[in-house]
Amino acid sequence: KLITILNGPNLNLLGKREPEIYGHETLDDVEKSCAAVGAEFGLDVKLLQSNWEGQIVDWVHEARGEAAGIIINPAALTHTSVAVLDALNTFEGPVFEVHISQVHKREAFRHHSYVSLRADGVIAGFGIEGYALAMRRMGSLLG
Ligand code: DQA
Repeated sequence: KLITILNGPNLNLLGKREPEIYGHETLDDVEKSCAAVGAEFGLDVKLLQSNWEGQIVDWVHEARGEAAGIIINPAALTHTSVAVLDALNTFEGPVFEVHISQVHKREAFRHHSYVSLRADGVIAGFGIEGYALAMRRMGSLLG
């Protein structure tokens, strides 16, 4: 079974971007830790990142029928995108929303998430470990 891990705008710069908030680890590190957890449960991972809202929507559509679950850090699209929410609403499997930072401790505009209206679980503030925790939950649900 495949888990698609989607990452939104500016997360290509993870490790370089505001490291005091998001840490020094990169999306490659995220992929490695998620693949390691996946291996424990017989799950494959496909990690994708785009700065473009429509690309994220297209990848959610591709995940339909292909992936058993989606882990998504929509980044800024969390707080703005009805399109990403609507796309996720077409996906049948579990959806977990991950935020590296503790968004509820930050600016008020980060407190609301459109994606949370669909997400089956939400993790915020655990750094990049949040992705591996979400993978572990995918493992106990699907592995
Ligand atoms: C983020 C939090 C968002 O508010 C922000 O726009 C991001 C990253 C996080 O992982 O903490 O780009 O999703």
